[in-house]
Amino acid sequence: MIRKVKGTRDILPPETRLWNEVERTALRVFEGFGYSEIRLPLLEPTELFVRTVGEGTDIVSKEMYTFADRKGRSLTLRPEGTASVARAFIENGLGQRPQPLRLSYFGPMFRYERMQRGRYRQFSQIGIEVLGAATPAADVEVIVALHTFLAELGFDNLIIVLNNLGDPEDRERFIAGLKTELTPHREELCGDCQRRWDENPLRILDCKVPRCRELVAETTPVADVVSEDARHHVAAVEDALDAVSIPVRRAPRLVRGLDYYLRTVFEVISPELGEDTVICGGGRYDRLISDLGGAAVPGVGFAIGEDRLIEVLPQSFKDRAFDERVVTVLPLGDGSVAPATALARDLVRAGATVHTEVTGRSLKAGLKWSGKMNSSVAVILGEQELAEGAALIRDLRRGEQEKAALDRVVGRVVELLRVEE
Ligand code: HAM
Repeated sequence: MIRKVKGTRDILPPETRLWNEVERTALRVFEGFGYSEIRLPLLEPTELFVRTVGEGTDIVSKEMYTFADRKGRSLTLRPEGTASVARAFIENGLGQRPQPLRLSYFGPMFRYERMQRGRYRQFSQIGIEVLGAATPAADVEVIVALHTFLAELGFDNLIIVLNNLGDPEDRERFIAGLKTELTPHREELCGDCQRRWDENPLRILDCKVPRCRELVAETTPVADVVSEDARHHVAAVEDALDAVSIPVRRAPRLVRGLDYYLRTVFEVISPELGEDTVICGGGRYDRLISDLGGAAVPGVGFAIGEDRLIEVLPQSFKDRAFDERVVTVLPLGDGSVAPATALARDLVRAGATVHTEVTGRSLKAGLKWSGKMNSSVAVILGEQELAEGAALIRDLRRGEQEKAALDRVVGRVVELLRVEE
C-alpha cells in the first residue's frame, strides 16, 4: 500500500465541510472589512524566503522544501504567505492601486517540521495583509478583523497576546543588551541556543528548554528598550483595542519566528492547545517590501493555522456546519431512473441536499440506506405510482408517508424540510 507523505493529511468528508464553512466565513468577514482575495503560487524562488523570513530562522535554515528544478533553479514550496504577497505587490505594481491595499489569502504551506499534535509538514493558513499603512490604526484593524472572525466561529476563550519588537535599530540594541545579560550564563544555554547566539539571538527568547526559559525570564524585555516612536505606536494599538473591548495580553518575551517583524507582534493561543501550539501569528513588517527592492511600503497582517483552528472549533459552529437537510430519492425499477434524475436535479435547484440511490437497492434496503445518510425525507419512485404520474413522499423523522403528483413533489419536500428547522 502506498501511504501519504509524512506530515501531510487526508482531510476526509464530513470534516471537509468544516473547512469549507470556516473558509466561507473567513471570506465573508474579511471581505466585509474590505479585503480582497489574492491567489499566489505554491512555488517561489528560494531566495524570496531567505531574504524575508531570514537565513537564521528555523524556517529557512531547516524547514524548507527546497529543490532544484530541471534547469537547476532553486525553488521552494512556500513555508508562509507574507513573502509571496510582498513579491506579488512589487511584481504587479500594486503600489499603483489606491492604498492601503487590503489582501486576504488561504491555502497550503509547507515546513519540514518535527511532527506533533497540531504540527504538520503541509498545513493551511488563512491570512490577511494591509499594505501601505504605517499607522497604529492599521494594526488595530487587522486585530479587530481577526477577533470578529473568531467570534463569528463562536470562539470566546481565545487569548490574544502582543508585544513591541521596536524598530530594527532598537532590536540591534536589544540583542546587544540581551547578550551582555546572558554572557555569564552562556554555557548553561541549550545546544540550539548556543547556535542561535550568533545566528539569530532573538530566537533564544523562544526556546522551550526550561533552563533557557529561566535565564531569559531574568533579562530585560525588548519593549523596555524600544524608541519613543515605537512605544507610542504599540501603546496606541493597545489603547484602541481596549476601547473596543478586545482583551489583549502583553507577552514581554514574544518575538515570533520570522525576521521581518517590527513594532507590533501578536499571537492567538487557545487554552486547549496551550501556549506552544499557536493558532495565529502576525505583526507589522514595514521594511519587508523595501528589503525586496520595492518602495518603502509598510505592512501589517496575520496568518491563522487552519488545521489548528479546526481542531478547537466550538461545538456550536460544528453543529451549524453539519446541519443539513438531506433528501434521498429512491427509484424502484427501470422506468424510474429518468424521473428520479429529473427530480433530484429539481430538488437541488430548490436548495436541498440530495442523495439518489444508484446501486439498485430494494425499497427496504433503500430506506435503511436513507437512514444512514441522515436523510429527513425519502422520495420513492415506484413503478405503480409513476404510472399514475405520482410518487411517495416519506417523512422519515415522523414515519409518515403520502402520495403526491410528480409536479408537486419538489414543493412538498421543501415544505417538509422547512418544518424540520
Ligand atoms: P507563523 O507564525 O509562522 O507566521 O505561522 C502562522 C500560523 O500558521 C501559526 O500560528 C500556526 O497556527 C500555523 N502553523 C505554522 N506552522 C505550522 C505547522 N507546521 N503545522 C500547522 N500549523 C502551522 C506566518 O506564517 C506569517 N506569514 C504570519 C503573518 C502574516 N505575519 C504577517 N502577516
